[in-house]
Amino acid sequence: MKTPLCRKLGCELPIFAFSHCRDVVVEVTKAGGFGVLGASTFSPEKLEAELRWIDQHTGGRPYGVDVIIPTTYDKEAEKSLEDLHKLIPQEHRDFMEKILTEAGIPQLPPDEKERVEREIVQGRGGMTPDGARRLLTVALTHPQVKMVVSALGSPPPDIIEQLRSRGIVIGAMCGKAEHAARHMKAGVEVIVAQGTEAGGHTGEIATMVLVPQVVEACGPGIAVLAAGGIARGSQIAAALALGAQGVWCGTVWLGTRESELDPFEKQVLFDARADDAVRRKARTGKSVRMIKSRLSEAWEQPGAPKYLPTPLQGILYNEMHARVVRAKRKDFYSGPAGQVVGMLTEETSVRDVMYRMQTEYLEAVERLQQLTDTQQ
Ligand SMILES: Cc1cc2nc3c(=O)[nH]c(=O)nc-3n(C[C@H](O)[C@H](O)[C@H](O)COP(=O)(O)O)c2cc1C
Repeated sequence: MKTPLCRKLGCELPIFAFSHCRDVVVEVTKAGGFGVLGASTFSPEKLEAELRWIDQHTGGRPYGVDVIIPTTYDKEAEKSLEDLHKLIPQEHRDFMEKILTEAGIPQLPPDEKERVEREIVQGRGGMTPDGARRLLTVALTHPQVKMVVSALGSPPPDIIEQLRSRGIVIGAMCGKAEHAARHMKAGVEVIVAQGTEAGGHTGEIATMVLVPQVVEACGPGIAVLAAGGIARGSQIAAALALGAQGVWCGTVWLGTRESELDPFEKQVLFDARADDAVRRKARTGKSVRMIKSRLSEAWEQPGAPKYLPTPLQGILYNEMHARVVRAKRKDFYSGPAGQVVGMLTEETSVRDVMYRMQTEYLEAVERLQQLTDTQQ
């Protein structure tokens, strides 16, 4: 399974794990894969603590960091980090408050409310180009960080220059072949071709269609990773057959014991079917695949306010989401998850997932080999 990109980065397996949870990053990296910490929801101080912990537990192995560098966002919010709350219109607050109050979902206790609001504002402040710069300043002080990936847009020239001068491999997420062309022009070396099946921000084209298009658009000099809808070894075999140099998975780790989700959230995911993972703008103002709930659907109704730009919608939504999780209200729960959520049925571990992926990959390759052999 070792591909040229594995050799370039110094990992054994072309299994890239996107996670906001340091334990997942550590376990995947220790198992020979390449863990990538989603940093966009952290303050720079929190990111420093997380990266220090990952360094201490990965025995010098390489890993990556992912930041969100959107092409469209609220410019005012980028300047007013301290005052992000004040930029959320009262109409939007009242809309969310009415839904939760009518459903009997209580406020957070005052100290928890204060902590959650502070953490969300600090975290969401990272979802603008300047916010990403602050996070990268931290990431660059950790030499094990060998790849930085940007989501929602190409990294600007100053960031490309900074990463390149440190020998860090530069990646970017893409949902259309046109995005790949733009990324390559900007100087990106690894393109994560993410299909619509994926959890998180996602486009409209399926992985099976997107990956070969992006591989063709990139040519031999650029490595493509396949993302979206991959949780099994057979799907890894399919991705490599399509020309990808590895797979990039997110949802599958949510059901592991290393995932930071609380047991209530994991149970919602285990109960969900593939078609419960829908694309909606309620979480961030941009299309995110997430679990359908009464909260996500309320924003789709006539009379709902317009979605706020990044990062303001995310601040508003996540404050309400914290209340839903505390109240354990499955009917209002809309965490991000991809269609493979329908394959998650019970808690596993990162080690089990990695082992199973490799075994199934070998079985899939053997099946194909037998087909070829019987033709001769
Ligand atoms: C809970 C969750 C949060 C995500 N957050 C981000 C993010 O902050 N940045 C990013 O580049 N991708 C994010 N993604 C998308 C993943 O990087 C990845 O492309 C996707 O999960 C792959 O598809 P899968 O969910 O079918 O495995 C997220 C995905 C999930 C499930």
